[in-house]
Amino acid sequence: MIKKWWHDKVAYQIYPKSFYDSNGDGIGDIPGIISKLDYLHDLGVDIVWLSPCYKSPLADQGYDISDYYSIDPRFGTMEDMDRLIAEAKKRNMYILMDLVVNHCSDEHEWFRKACEDPEGKYGRYFYLRDKKEGELPTNWRSYFGGPVWEDLPGTDKQYLHVFHKKQPDLNWENPELREEVYKNINWWLDRGLGGFRIDAIINIKKPLSFHDYEPDRDDGLCSIFAMLQEARGIGEFLGEMRDRTFKKYDAFAVGEVFNEKPEEIPDFIGDNGYFSSMFDFNETIFGHSEKGWYDAKPITPDDYKRCCFESQAKVKEIGFLSNIIENHDEPRGVSRYIPEGDCCPESKKMLAALNFMLRGLPFIYQGQELGMENVPISSIDEVDDISARDEYRVALEAGLSPEEALQVIARSSRDNARTPMQWTGGENAGFTAGTPWLKVNPNYADINVEAELADENSVLHFYKKLIALRKDPAYKETVVYGALEPVWEEKHNLMAYYRKGDKTLLVIGNYQRQGQEIVLPAAYRKVLLNNYADIAEENGVIRMHGYQVLVLEMEES
Ligand code: GLC
Ligand code: CA
Repeated sequence: MIKKWWHDKVAYQIYPKSFYDSNGDGIGDIPGIISKLDYLHDLGVDIVWLSPCYKSPLADQGYDISDYYSIDPRFGTMEDMDRLIAEAKKRNMYILMDLVVNHCSDEHEWFRKACEDPEGKYGRYFYLRDKKEGELPTNWRSYFGGPVWEDLPGTDKQYLHVFHKKQPDLNWENPELREEVYKNINWWLDRGLGGFRIDAIINIKKPLSFHDYEPDRDDGLCSIFAMLQEARGIGEFLGEMRDRTFKKYDAFAVGEVFNEKPEEIPDFIGDNGYFSSMFDFNETIFGHSEKGWYDAKPITPDDYKRCCFESQAKVKEIGFLSNIIENHDEPRGVSRYIPEGDCCPESKKMLAALNFMLRGLPFIYQGQELGMENVPISSIDEVDDISARDEYRVALEAGLSPEEALQVIARSSRDNARTPMQWTGGENAGFTAGTPWLKVNPNYADINVEAELADENSVLHFYKKLIALRKDPAYKETVVYGALEPVWEEKHNLMAYYRKGDKTLLVIGNYQRQGQEIVLPAAYRKVLLNNYADIAEENGVIRMHGYQVLVLEMEES
């Protein structure tokens, strides 16, 4: 594997709208991010990914872009963005933007021109079909519910949108469109960006020609995955994009990729992969159901372990996964992967260490380093997330009571991750001097940056230690490049693995409230991390405390 500049880094995702509001309008902004760069630098973060802050009607919170060359005034100005890049550089940090090019906004100029002249140049930027009364071109269901087809205003055509109707899909089969995309990427890289996180990219290749699939719900529609399954040849687009853009700049590109086949991994993230890295979503997609969120299966500690190890085994040393426990599309990792009722600083630290010490690039989502949790909701009216609102309806239609449907939403809503960052125990968690755009999680009085900085035993300090270990010259080679080897895989509620490089590290997490005994396979030399003050050990037998996690440096074998 060829070594790359970003391999030993630590990445952090910012959801700008909810990070820090500098001017009291209730919306986080770029000047707010700049004012918190020192906080991130002090934590040990090197790469910062910003969810979209381009000009947008915010129908899908910025994932609907109406101008790829400007910053939305709610988030700041282009000068602010340039200043952010420059300030980051001063601290040896890199800024990534979100590349959202499967679709644009229906308020983008291209779309407006397509409406004016569907047979012209810009009509070919989209997927348009003649409208037939009482019949849709295909029966595909969009990710956010309902059919993927919508009338093209002022015409006798319909356009395709795999997400919201305000997010028309761009036609990647058209070379002119692809040129526009590459031009935009290079324009940003020339401004000094470190690279991109690449949104929803698996959707850019559609099987031509379009046709129906077997319906999978009573609505007569089928999941969008049916058509993705059939699509072939995405590699040609992705390879071209890499060669025309990222590669020339040695930029970092991390893809939102779900459905790759094991044999395609070298193409995606090998030495000359389409991307530098891709997220490991194996845990986040576990238990999903075609029927909807209400039918999802909860994940247990043993499932979590199996998901992580499966991904590790699939990727081996071919490339680098980007490891996450949450992002802006998921509930909080601690609320999801820790059994109900057991969320506490110890269990949060255990989950942090088990995830962070995996082979790959660790991504922290804002607030994760504090142990931020899901937000309680008392009514669907409080919910902002468009996918959650649709899933609520789906759950009701499936026969759940409003209370049950609300529980489903509380568990899975994307709002869980989007509540404002908790900076202090003061009003609105110190996020804004105005009214926050989304309700602050009421637990901010205990869980916030200020309180956790002051407490040596906080989750935040534990994250700092994890990051420091990844960067420690004595252990770096092993933590970054060492092979991962599962240990005691069959042991219930225990997740353990070796990282083997020039050192041998053993990571052990007792993934339950009760104690558990393990017999060490060899003596250890040093305790590198422990979320308790002690180790209950006698003659090579360790009685692990509830949710204890250890990182041990072992004697060479
Ligand atoms: C990705 C984003 C998500 C967005 C969708 C459409 O999945 O992470 O937030 O809604 O793409 O752009
Ligand atoms: Ca603001």
